[in-house]
Amino acid sequence: MKHTPDILLVTGAAGFIGSNFVHYWMNAYPDSKIIVLDALTYAGNKENLVSLEQNKSFTFVHADILDTDKVEFLLREYNVDTLVHFAAESHVDRSIHGPDAFFKTNIEGTHSLLKAAKKVWLDEGKTNHRFHHVSTDEVYGTLTPDAPAFTETNQYLPNSPYAASKASSDHIVRSYHHTYGLNTTISNCSNNYGPYQFPEKLIPLVIANCLDGKALPIYGDGQQIRDWLFVDDHNRGIDLIIRNGQIDNTYNIGGNNEWANIDIVTLICELMDEYHPAGAPHKQLITYVKDRPGHDRRYAINASKIMNELGYAPQETFETGIRKTVQWYMDHEQWWRRIMDGSYTNWLDKNYE
Ligand code: NAD
Ligand code: TYD
Repeated sequence: MKHTPDILLVTGAAGFIGSNFVHYWMNAYPDSKIIVLDALTYAGNKENLVSLEQNKSFTFVHADILDTDKVEFLLREYNVDTLVHFAAESHVDRSIHGPDAFFKTNIEGTHSLLKAAKKVWLDEGKTNHRFHHVSTDEVYGTLTPDAPAFTETNQYLPNSPYAASKASSDHIVRSYHHTYGLNTTISNCSNNYGPYQFPEKLIPLVIANCLDGKALPIYGDGQQIRDWLFVDDHNRGIDLIIRNGQIDNTYNIGGNNEWANIDIVTLICELMDEYHPAGAPHKQLITYVKDRPGHDRRYAINASKIMNELGYAPQETFETGIRKTVQWYMDHEQWWRRIMDGSYTNWLDKNYE
């Protein structure tokens, strides 16, 4: 069933992927309207959307997804036809130190949005609607080195509180289709990288620490494998699913790009030698630290379903995507330095003590 999104409510769009999504969408579809709802937690940054502030098709609302009344109001007031749900607590390490916020936002928060959507779209008879839930490959658990990549039919075996909270939210979304008939879709994507990623995540952390001559912390033996995708290739996949995806379907999104952590950090060090020769060789900053508890060994996505059904193909190679990313962090030093305030420093002390 095709859908034409005209008026979108995008949650969590002051964060990394959501802000890239809004920029991507406004470029691709300048006639559509976007209302952003974001609670501006430590990970939310209005600066990510500053270039859209004068755009009449863009509205920013500072609110929590747990505020069901507010969400209902926005859906009605703006006649929203498409809700794209990015808002979440998203950092695995933080979920280990403090899981409560993850269960609150990721589970209860998703339910709050579904309740509002049900009330405004279903109970009030708006059949032309979509609820797209953005999820992660981490719901599938961990793979052994030779196991086939995750497909949409893999069993859910989440290992971290973050992954468990996202798995729960996926199930709740599914139940709102099966029980009430809400038009839902879900995407489970692999690790993203690109502009505006908060510098607590591996790739921006390594770039920032290279520029500051600080240690590059590698958890455990550094042989854990992640499947990296450039953020706008994730957004292209979401776009296809919202328009052409089948209701009540899950689509895995990935770029067939598996890297061991130590190899990706070494590669970034080599790039940094080129972009920032004063600090070369950056490899000397690599420091092995205590492993993350319950650290998943390998994630890998089989994206055949979205490729075959919806014609999806990533546009960036890793070579082009990682260069764009390093260049962006070189060009936006003020952006990430401003983030590294007191509370962020406290987090670093706690995580790497
Ligand atoms: P992020 O942490 O950078 O941003 C999260 C945003 O959500 C922030 O702007 C924050 O202020 C907002 N937020 C948090 N709690 C909120 C609440 N209660 N109400 C309203 N807003 C709230 O996250 P991200 O990396 O951009 O991830 C976005 C989504 O994509 C998440 O759902 C995540 O699970 C999923 N995902 C991320 C990746 C990845 O590699 N980063 C991969 C696959 C899926
Ligand atoms: P991260 O970017 O936190 O994403 P996720 O845990 O969701 O995959 O981490 C990516 C990988 O890098 C993961 O295996 C943990 C590892 N890692 C380190 O080795 N050192 C670090 O300082 C960080 C933040 C992550």
